[in-house]
Amino acid sequence: MTDSHSASRPTTPELQREIDRIYAVQLDHVTKDFGGGVLGLDDVNLGFRTGRISVLLGLSGSGKSTLLRHINGLHTPASGRVRVLGQDMDKLRRSELKSVRRDIGVIFQSFNLVGPMSVLENVCAGALGSLRGPRITLMMYPKAVRRGALEKLDRVGLADRAYQRADTLSGGQQQRVAIARALMQQPKVLLADEPVASLDPVSAHDVIDLLRQISAEDDLTVIASLHQVELAIDFADRIIGLRTGQVVLDRATAGLSAEETSQIYSSVSGTDIAEVGSSDDANIARAQMPKTGTEAAARVGAYR
Ligand SMILES: Nc1ncnc2c1ncn2[C@@H]1O[C@H](COP(=O)(O)OP(=O)(O)OP(=O)(O)O)[C@@H](O)[C@H]1O
Ligand SMILES: [Mg+2]
Repeated sequence: MTDSHSASRPTTPELQREIDRIYAVQLDHVTKDFGGGVLGLDDVNLGFRTGRISVLLGLSGSGKSTLLRHINGLHTPASGRVRVLGQDMDKLRRSELKSVRRDIGVIFQSFNLVGPMSVLENVCAGALGSLRGPRITLMMYPKAVRRGALEKLDRVGLADRAYQRADTLSGGQQQRVAIARALMQQPKVLLADEPVASLDPVSAHDVIDLLRQISAEDDLTVIASLHQVELAIDFADRIIGLRTGQVVLDRATAGLSAEETSQIYSSVSGTDIAEVGSSDDANIARAQMPKTGTEAAARVGAYR
């Protein structure tokens, strides 16, 4: 089976188990029809290997976020099958879906931290999915959660900022905190929708390096959307190009020549430009920062 397998459906449970071991995420003939002639995804067949990093590239509107939202069970396909960590997403009961989602961490372009709360509290909030009841203050989290959060902060190099207000950190630091928060779920799959689009190039590289390191250490399957081809090549094991909901490119990044790199630009965009799309300004992320825990939860909920 290749990474872009066209799903000849497995016939035995043993074979399916083996496929599930190799591919953390599988999309078989997935089509999403938004109506009005808009196909968010158009017969997408992809298998995302466990522990690998894949980057989705494509112009605005090509279907990157739509694909990520299918993996998280937020969208259901009009036809086809989405299988995540050995489960068919459309066959799960609510509690089962919740359990699969706990294994899927998500990070966003706009970080979605609660600005006035401390960094440590923001990270602790990553454990909320496995705790009962609301936690209004830091001390309401169990000690083990607080200790775990500090460990995660140490991992992303920010333990010394634990008690600082989140909105006083730089954009790159805030995204590191968001990564630490996602790690509180001990995810097996991490979805990152344009995780560095709001960052300057140096901070973007730092965040990407951190994600690479975590993926390698934790055998974490990472699926990210990016706009920068060069960054994608540095970061990913594999690049998937989308155009109008279709996979127009799917290849490993190892050993790409300059000519092949320029072909990526043209395959994905349909033109010969040197940058696919453009990145936003860091201020946008700050302006979009939720002001309350409820607002942040609502936004995170858009992916949960
Ligand atoms: N909820 C929705 N209802 C209707 N159409 C939608 C919806 N979500 C996405 N679409 C459409 O599906 C297509 C793919 O959108 P998507 O948001 O996945 O693109 P994208 O590649 O993530 O773009 P960007 O780089 O701007 O984030 C677009 O034409 C978009 O307008
Ligand atoms: Mg998007």
